[in-house]
Amino acid sequence: MSVHQSSNLKRITTHVLQEMKGRGEKISMLTAYDFSMAGILDAAGVDIILVGDSASNVMAGHETTLPITLDQMIYHASGVVRAVKRSLVVVDIPFGSYQGNSTEALRSAIRIMKESGAHAVKVEGGSEIKESVVRILSAGVPVMGHLGLTPQSIYKFGTYTVRAKEDDEAGKLIADAKVLEECGCFGIVLEKIPAKLAKQVADNVSIPVIGIGAGPDVDGQVLVVHDMLGITQEFKPRFLRQYADLRSTMTEAVENYIKDVKTNDFPSKKESY
Ligand code: KIV
Repeated sequence: MSVHQSSNLKRITTHVLQEMKGRGEKISMLTAYDFSMAGILDAAGVDIILVGDSASNVMAGHETTLPITLDQMIYHASGVVRAVKRSLVVVDIPFGSYQGNSTEALRSAIRIMKESGAHAVKVEGGSEIKESVVRILSAGVPVMGHLGLTPQSIYKFGTYTVRAKEDDEAGKLIADAKVLEECGCFGIVLEKIPAKLAKQVADNVSIPVIGIGAGPDVDGQVLVVHDMLGITQEFKPRFLRQYADLRSTMTEAVENYIKDVKTNDFPSKKESY
């Protein structure tokens, strides 16, 4: 039975997520970028839908998340919000729309909330964006942090390898998580860091910590939906568990359609007026 068939449908709020962490119930989070996919994820019962700037990669075919614009994020988020009845919808503020100063950050967050109807925003970084995080929160907009491998900084890192393996980077990550918690963020995504460090962070902050490539000892997990459904082809990092092979299923369906069109098998009499 899907959650929408159940009579006690309860919307996921940041407060609900906090309660889940409190009772040790794991939080599920997946990305979505459009109405149809978001409707499937919401009906299946995923707790958080992230309109990630990974849309830049999986929807637009860019190599990095940097090119996607605020207008494009709002477009993706609007479709997602229209489909959702239960999940919390979090939207990435894209590269170049919050790093300048806190006024720009606030303006971008407000545009996302007002124009898409989303429930929260996500930003990458720690102490260096503290002022912006505080400013967005002061307007009543829930903020989620993102530490570890932060794809908007890929040209600073130079590679997509595991972050914070060395003590100094791990120490800064722990301190940044504390900063985000103290600012009032409702959660933090930790991407591609050692599992031991992720556990340390999750144990040391009171807010939910959601991992991607951060091991099992955090409060929840997030994956890019096209990766876990097997739609993307080449991206197969160690942390990815593929739950379906939709690329093969879809390819076979399209090949069968082409064959039926070419052989005049489709449409049949029953499929005609
Ligand atoms: O943009 C995205 O999909 C993300 C997840 C990888 C956490 O930020």
